[in-house]
Amino acid sequence: MSERLALNAILVERLSRAHEKSLNGFSSYEKDLIDFLREDALPNEETFISTTHLWFHRESGKLMGYITLRADALNLTAPLKEDFRKKGIKYKSLPALKIGRLCVDDRFLRRGLGTLMVDSAMIIAAELTEKIGCRFVTVETKRHPDKSRNAIHFYRRNGFKILKEREKGAIPMYKDISKIMAGLTNRVQT
Ligand SMILES: CC(C)(COP(=O)(O)OP(=O)(O)OC[C@H]1O[C@@H](n2cnc3c(N)ncnc32)[C@H](O)[C@@H]1OP(=O)(O)O)[C@@H](O)C(=O)NCCC(=O)NCCS
Repeated sequence: MSERLALNAILVERLSRAHEKSLNGFSSYEKDLIDFLREDALPNEETFISTTHLWFHRESGKLMGYITLRADALNLTAPLKEDFRKKGIKYKSLPALKIGRLCVDDRFLRRGLGTLMVDSAMIIAAELTEKIGCRFVTVETKRHPDKSRNAIHFYRRNGFKILKEREKGAIPMYKDISKIMAGLTNRVQT
């Protein structure tokens, strides 16, 4: 296995028109995520729907991965709804930051990049929490027939839980950021 990527080997840039050429060499076994990057990410950025950050290999300039974020709300369903009710929180939904898309180029898989990109989303969620309130980071993912490509396992490894099991289609997952915030602010965790 290739070695883990060090932080100083990475350069992160917000997607703009200047990047159009660098998107062409990006490859992934998830073809939809290549199409999204080439066709939709920039229009969505320009119409204030989502933001995309590109993660480059500093030395070679190669595009290694990208993450797209957008605002979200998590509808509380059982048993999560009951957990929050017990804490005195009776809202039907709570504010969230969504990982809309996350993809690592096939040539850079399993080197810790996906985890670093999820961490970057957690940092942005923590900033949002301080400014306007944000309780969860959410994502929708699919079971892949090939177990070695099962992103659910990846998100579980990164502290996400399944909101609702589904046989078909996307499976919603979430991570509650209250623990992280309690650690950062010395506040009591709710
Ligand atoms: C899911 C994805 C982002 C993971 O990126 P990555 O950089 O390879 O992940 P990391 O190296 O940080 O992996 C951390 C751990 O998660 C697990 N993991 C990572 N990718 C996995 C996968 N596809 N299937 C199962 N487990 C996985 C492993 O336990 C891994 O640790 P290990 O390598 O020490 O065993 C990447 O496989 C990808 O881009 N897949 C295609 C697109 C996709 O499925 N995106 C997610 C849906 S939005």
